[in-house]
Amino acid sequence: MEQPARMEQPVQTETWKARSLEELVRILHRIFAEDKVSVEEVQALMESYESNPEEWLQYAKFDQYRYTRNLVDNGNGKFNLMILCWGEGHGSSIHDHTDSHCFMKILQGNLKETLFEWPEKKGNGEMTKKSERVLRENQCAYINDSIGLHRVENISHTESAVSLHLYSPPFDSCNTFDQRTGHKHKVKMTFYSQFGERTLCATAVPQENN
Ligand SMILES: [Fe+2]
Repeated sequence: MEQPARMEQPVQTETWKARSLEELVRILHRIFAEDKVSVEEVQALMESYESNPEEWLQYAKFDQYRYTRNLVDNGNGKFNLMILCWGEGHGSSIHDHTDSHCFMKILQGNLKETLFEWPEKKGNGEMTKKSERVLRENQCAYINDSIGLHRVENISHTESAVSLHLYSPPFDSCNTFDQRTGHKHKVKMTFYSQFGERTLCATAVPQENN
C-alpha cells in the first residue's frame, strides 16, 4: 500500500515547540495550511508539548465500559485532533487508518501498542504480530496503513490513560480485524464528546476505532 500522498518531506523542516495545548493547535493549523506537511515535523511538534492536565481536562471524558473519543479541534477540515480516554484495561480492536496519517501522543499513563501485518487476501488464520511497545507520557507514535495495523491498550489495572490523536485527512470509518481469522469488518466511529460537550449518541452501536 502506498504512503498517503499529501505528506511529503519538504526541503526544510521547522523545529517548533508547543508550550501549551492552545499553542499546539495554533501551530498545527499553520502547518496543515501548507500543501506539503512533514510527518517528522508534526511528530516532533506533538512530542514537544509537555502534557498539562489543566489544559486538556475539559476534553477528558471517561466511560466505565470502553475507551472514548473526544473531539478537540477539526483542523479546518485538514485534520481531526481528539483526546482518547482509556479506563483501566480498556483497549481497541486491531484496526487500520483508512489511508490517513495517525499521530498518537500520550498525555497521561502508558499505552501498549501492538503492530500487526495486514492479513493475506485469501488468508483465514491467526494474524502476524510484528512488534509491541509501551508508549509513555509525552511520547508521540506515528502509524499509517503502509506500516501496518495496530491495537492500542491500557494494560494497567490501576491507572487510566489519556492520549492525544491527530488524523489527517479526517475519517469516520475504518476496518477492524479479528486476530484469529484476519477477517475484517468496517465500523463507523463516533465522538463521545465534541469541544468539551457530551455528544448524545442515539444508538448503542459499539464504536470500534483507532
Ligand atoms: Fe490507531
